[in-house]
Amino acid sequence: MKKTILTGLRPTGNLHLGHYFGACQNYLKMQNEYDFYLEIADVQALTDNFNNPEKVRKNVKEITMDLLSIGLDPKKVNFFIQSKIPEIAELTVFYSNLVTVARLQRNPTVKNEIAQKKELFGNNGESITYGFLGYPVSQAADITAFDGELVPVGDDQLPLLEQCREIVRKFNSIYGTVLKEPEQVLSNITRVKGLDGNEKMGKSLGNAIYLIDDEETIRKKVMGAVTDPNKIKKDDPANPDICMVYYYHNLVNKENLNSVCSECKMGTRGCVACKKELINKMNEFLKPIKEKRKEYEENPDLVDEILKNGTAKAQAKAKEQINKVKHAMKIDY
Ligand code: TRP
Repeated sequence: MKKTILTGLRPTGNLHLGHYFGACQNYLKMQNEYDFYLEIADVQALTDNFNNPEKVRKNVKEITMDLLSIGLDPKKVNFFIQSKIPEIAELTVFYSNLVTVARLQRNPTVKNEIAQKKELFGNNGESITYGFLGYPVSQAADITAFDGELVPVGDDQLPLLEQCREIVRKFNSIYGTVLKEPEQVLSNITRVKGLDGNEKMGKSLGNAIYLIDDEETIRKKVMGAVTDPNKIKKDDPANPDICMVYYYHNLVNKENLNSVCSECKMGTRGCVACKKELINKMNEFLKPIKEKRKEYEENPDLVDEILKNGTAKAQAKAKEQINKVKHAMKIDY
């Protein structure tokens, strides 16, 4: 029996290099070995975009096309839409009895997000909604609805997995062993830095390179990337460790990395030339992804079909699982 993997993405924007190297690369490896469910988490996206349904709707297809374009194979991966699986909502209600409000408020991921969303949730999180505070419970439902055993994620998601395991243990201790404790799968690169040198590349931080960025956009972004501020003249020696251009060479130009590094340190490599080389390598890296995406853009029915088929498989699996849960909870009337 193949192990089951489950992961999800919020449809709130296109994929960037942070997603690609932080998590998606792992999906590519794992699709060959496991029973793979990939959730487009529209309900979770609404927890902090409830006032912007158009954005979520539009991005369901956008993110699906992004994921297909990197080489995920719809024959191996079940792409499905969260809101089409009502069992997830049911499980969320059942699990909400097994977690305290205080525990949710202490969840570091939730705390961080509340702090970043002052406009929505108030300066001190005083306007936090029940739905947003509870999304870790819903994410535990996402995972367990499919008996997810392995969950490939970025490291920002670890507190959510820990919370899921706590819910699973609590459930099993009360109702009998029905649910599996999921394990995270982290990629070698757990976090990709932003163009501005920020520790994290993020949509809201405005420091991301997107997989769909065209060549001109890539050029502008790379030319504006943060480099060693002490390097003033073209032949000043510099420190690649604090240079974002070097950092991205390490992602897409591995074969020349040693020379990029030593030339930078010696002062034989000017920043403009170094950036130009990176622009070329970045475009080479993105080209096949964009070509594949174009096939799907020209064939939107195909994307609908992929989502429909994946969702049907997910529905069947979630039905099996909810029956077991309801039986254990003695609500299987
Ligand atoms: N919370 C995840 C994110 O913001 C998305 C997500 C939803 C998810 N459901 C999931 C991740 C289940 C892993 C497993 O990126």
